[in-house]
Amino acid sequence: MAPASAARRKSNPIVLPASDSLSDEEFTRIADLVGGHTGIRLPAGKRTMVEGRIRKRMRAVGQSSFSGYCHYVFEDGGLASEVTHMIDAVTTNKTDFFREPEHFEVLRRQIVPDCLSRSKGAAKTGIKVWSAAASNGAEAYTIAMVLAETAGSGRKFDYSILGTDISTDILAQARRAVYPGDFVSPVPAEMQQRYLMRSRDPSASEVRIVPELRRRVGFMHLNLMDEKYPVDTDVDAIFLRNVLIYFDKPTQAAVVGRLLRHLRPGGYLLLGHSESMIGTSLRLKQLAPSVFKLV
Ligand SMILES: C[S@@+](CC[C@H](N)C(=O)[O-])C[C@H]1O[C@@H](n2cnc3c(N)ncnc32)[C@H](O)[C@@H]1O
Repeated sequence: MAPASAARRKSNPIVLPASDSLSDEEFTRIADLVGGHTGIRLPAGKRTMVEGRIRKRMRAVGQSSFSGYCHYVFEDGGLASEVTHMIDAVTTNKTDFFREPEHFEVLRRQIVPDCLSRSKGAAKTGIKVWSAAASNGAEAYTIAMVLAETAGSGRKFDYSILGTDISTDILAQARRAVYPGDFVSPVPAEMQQRYLMRSRDPSASEVRIVPELRRRVGFMHLNLMDEKYPVDTDVDAIFLRNVLIYFDKPTQAAVVGRLLRHLRPGGYLLLGHSESMIGTSLRLKQLAPSVFKLV
């Protein structure tokens, strides 16, 4: 058997000099490319983060320097295949179950009762929620848990959740619905019992969302920069949380304006707590700092 160090050299032959860095021009080209596709601003302060993440792509395409990688992408035909990976590499996917938990109380106490009272007398009641920057699905599955709890404790209703994101890697994780044990710790214990499956192997700490919830949640690739998207136009609530902060002000307004075309009259828009001011200039009534209703 080869020694471990030899095995490592064999599978990962490219050694990157730690001192290598992106030139101003290379960083600007990457920032422009990413910004043009995703709307994400990459100011100079993000250079170290971008370098760290691009390093992984350099290894994957067999380049040993940033200049070699940039030449490959911009001059040598690598752009088409590399742009998706670059987007995966530079997006920030930080999320949690029950992140900013007040919003899930708004869902339970206000949005669900409002939807149910609107559909009084209808043969079938359904609630549609869109998690528009879904990351690994924690937000969409939190919504599903809250709706399942609410539907189980009062008037029955049907519900579906759409999760969308620009990052193909993170969407694959969302569809898999498998999470490390410590990542699901914000889920209340009784909901963990009902909605998370543990492995039969006691040494495995990973958990998976139960099929009953997975069936309710669909994931789709969607770029918020696109002019149009194939999403229903009668969505009851859109969670657009912790993504607008990466865009400049005109882009934020354009993104929210496009999303509102998919919200039914009287539907709800929930932004991240640090994004609460963004909704105030649009056709929206502010109900709470980061909760809006389409008027
Ligand atoms: C920080 S996460 C927020 C996740 C979740 N909404 C939350 O609040 O926990 C931001 C997500 O927005 C996605 N994103 C960034 N730019 C996007 C774009 N132009 N279109 C769609 N998704 C985008 C990223 O891939 C990332 O998964």
